[in-house]
Amino acid sequence: MLVSAKEMLQKAKAGHYAVGQFNINNLEWTKAILLTAEELKSPVILGVSEGAGKYMCGYKTVVGMVNGMLEELKITVPVALHLDHGSYEGCLKCIEAGFSSIMFDGSHYPIEENVAKTTELVKIVKEKGMSLEAEVGAIGGEEDGVVGKGECADPNECKAIADLGVDMLAAGIGNIHGKYPDNWEGLSFETLDAVQQLTGEMPLVLHGGTGIPDDMIQKAISLGVAKINVNTECQLSFAAATRKYIEEGKDEKGKGYDPRKLLAPGFEAIKETVKEKMELFGSVGKAE
Ligand code: 13P
Repeated sequence: MLVSAKEMLQKAKAGHYAVGQFNINNLEWTKAILLTAEELKSPVILGVSEGAGKYMCGYKTVVGMVNGMLEELKITVPVALHLDHGSYEGCLKCIEAGFSSIMFDGSHYPIEENVAKTTELVKIVKEKGMSLEAEVGAIGGEEDGVVGKGECADPNECKAIADLGVDMLAAGIGNIHGKYPDNWEGLSFETLDAVQQLTGEMPLVLHGGTGIPDDMIQKAISLGVAKINVNTECQLSFAAATRKYIEEGKDEKGKGYDPRKLLAPGFEAIKETVKEKMELFGSVGKAE
C-alpha cells in the first residue's frame, strides 16, 4: 500500500539521512526503482512530473501500475507516490487519482498567492492523510518547459510557508535541474543553514540531485535535507546502456530486438544508479 511521505521524512531528518525521490517515466523505470528499494530495504519516493503523468496516460494509469507492482512484486518497504512540481489543478487531479503525496510548486507566484494556494492544499491533504511539499525560490534549469535560474530562497518566506503545515519544503539554494553547467557556483549552504535555523524540524528537499558532488550532498544532509530528487541521472544511465547494446549490434543477434531484451541493460543501469544514490543518501536498511 502506498504511504504518505511524512513519516519516512521525519525519520530521515531525525536520523540524519535522506530518502531519494526517483522520477518515473514508464514500467521499466518504476520496476527498477521499486526492486532496488526492496533489495536495499530503503524507503523510497516515486516522483511523477505532470509531463511524465501525461506520457504514462494520466495519473490513474500511474496509480494502477504502481499499486499493481507493490502487490505483485511483494514490496514491503514504505513507498510514496508523489506529484513532482504540480500546478494547483494537477495537485487536485492527483489527490483524486490516488497519489499518496503531492508537491505544489507555487514558487513562480508572488509569495501571497503561494501562501493562499498552499493553505488550501494543506487542508485537503490533511483530510486524506497525504503529504504535501511546497517550494520557495525557483529551482534552476528546465523541467517540463519551465525554466528557472537557480535562485536562493528567502529564509523568511520559507518560514512563512513551512508554518502553513506542509510536510516538506523545497528551498532554492542555487540548485538546478538537469546537468550542472561548468561555471556552476555550487550549493549555497549559507542559505540552507539559514532556512533550517528558521524552519527547525521541517524536512528540507533538495531538487536537482543529478551531478551534485558527493561531499555537497553529505553537507546538505547534515544541514537538514531529508529528501533528494533524482531524475536526469537515471535517464543518462538508461540511455548510455541502451546505446551500448545497440552499438554492439546486440539487437540484431538472435532475438535481441525483443523489447524485454533490448530494454534490459537500461533497466539494470537504472537499478545501479538508484543503488548508488541510496547508499550515498544513507537510506539503505532504514526500512527494516
Ligand atoms: P535532476 O533531473 O537534476 O536529477 O532533478 C530532479 C528533480 O529535482 C525533480 O524534481
